[in-house]
Amino acid sequence: MESVQSIKQRFELIGNDVKLNRAIEKAIQVAPTDISVLVTGESGVGKEAIPKIIHSLSHRKHAKYIAVNCGAIPEGTIDSELFGHEKGAFTGATQTRSGYFEVADGGTIFLDEVGELPLTTQVRLLRVLENGEFLKVGSSQVQKTDVRIVAATNINMFEAIEKEKFREDLYYRLSTVEIHLPPLRDRREDIHLLFRKFASDFGQKYKMPTIRLEDDAVQLLLKYRWPGNIRQLRNIAEQISVLEENRNISAATLQSYLPESQGSNLPAVVGQTKKEGDFSNEREILYKVLFDMKGDLNDLKKLTLELLKHNDSSKVQKENENLIRKIYGNGQDEEEIDLEEDATTEVLHLPEPVMEAPVQAPAPISQEDRYHFAEEIEEEETLSLQEKEIELIKKSLERNNGKRKAAAAELGISERTLYRKIKQYDL
Ligand SMILES: Nc1ncnc2c1ncn2[C@@H]1O[C@H](COP(=O)(O)OP(=O)(O)OP(=O)(O)O)[C@@H](O)[C@H]1O
Ligand SMILES: [Mg+2]
Repeated sequence: MESVQSIKQRFELIGNDVKLNRAIEKAIQVAPTDISVLVTGESGVGKEAIPKIIHSLSHRKHAKYIAVNCGAIPEGTIDSELFGHEKGAFTGATQTRSGYFEVADGGTIFLDEVGELPLTTQVRLLRVLENGEFLKVGSSQVQKTDVRIVAATNINMFEAIEKEKFREDLYYRLSTVEIHLPPLRDRREDIHLLFRKFASDFGQKYKMPTIRLEDDAVQLLLKYRWPGNIRQLRNIAEQISVLEENRNISAATLQSYLPESQGSNLPAVVGQTKKEGDFSNEREILYKVLFDMKGDLNDLKKLTLELLKHNDSSKVQKENENLIRKIYGNGQDEEEIDLEEDATTEVLHLPEPVMEAPVQAPAPISQEDRYHFAEEIEEEETLSLQEKEIELIKKSLERNNGKRKAAAAELGISERTLYRKIKQYDL
């Protein structure tokens, strides 16, 4: 059996924390079996490496490994993506297509963000987990497949079960073995180690001397809560590596890269180094207002549709308590939406192109799908807002021969914000 150390090397996993080692050890142990595994842990803790380890150490390693981001596929198309569809199953289904469960026969499917699966898809998934049987959308012919499932989630599944958003039987079927990855703040010994590794990688990547943290900065690094875990640590190491001329980083410099609110799981919207009255602040505030409005509109659409569907306002009120509180508030100002790069890219996140995408299912004319259609329009609005921003940035970079400092000055934003946006939009 391969050792934990050699797996860490092979998958470039840094850290010596006992909880991390235990998680990797568990992955090694379950790999040769067909047991379903549920990987849990906060966002950014490194869940995606576990299914890869399991697949590569299993007898399925020469067959397909397909990663599906369940949260990124629209509800109207997910059944067809996972299980395929028959020709004529819906308008636009001009030919029969195979789904991931057919294509991955003999291999492994990683269902990321499994908590986001619609209930109808959960029923199909339960069946395939129980006896390997599934039906293509629009077909009554039972097909067989032999797929090993590894799922991951960063939400509290018990809460989802309680709210009847996730089937309890499916949860138990998926989590025969649970592998939990600890948050970074509980791996104190690993924080500086990871930072040094990222700093060295980015120093090489950008052909600059590696940044070094002064002692007080190391203390701050260890004290910080890291709500975005390793992903956030890596982003910050990259930003500092690119932006700081002085390669010795003090606590004050590091602090300026850390979001202000440590209690929140969301990074701060406006960087703290900006001066009041700075145009970049105003622009970002405007963007935030727009995004907030968009969020509210979406919530209102959801609520209206619920009312239309059920025609029973007290029931709808009860079932949508949280949504109503979010829209109308509970007496306190809420900060739900942010402009941080991860959050905005999430809106546009597409499923990984692991295989050719099946033909998109059309919107049948049910009430439910009208809502999805509304969501699509809303995504388009976000898209055009972002497109305008991208165009502005591109033009300014062209005018300034790619010089970020000059472009940032022209756009009235800080160089750091410009750098974030270039990364976010992959410019
Ligand atoms: N032990 C580690 N050593 C080095 N890099 C790591 C380690 N764990 C995670 N990473 C890096 O951290 C980033 C986030 O990891 P990953 O995408 O697996 O998070 P996640 O748990 O799937 O988060 P989410 O729930 O948001 O999808 C990736 O860039 C990954 O390569
Ligand atoms: Mg992930």
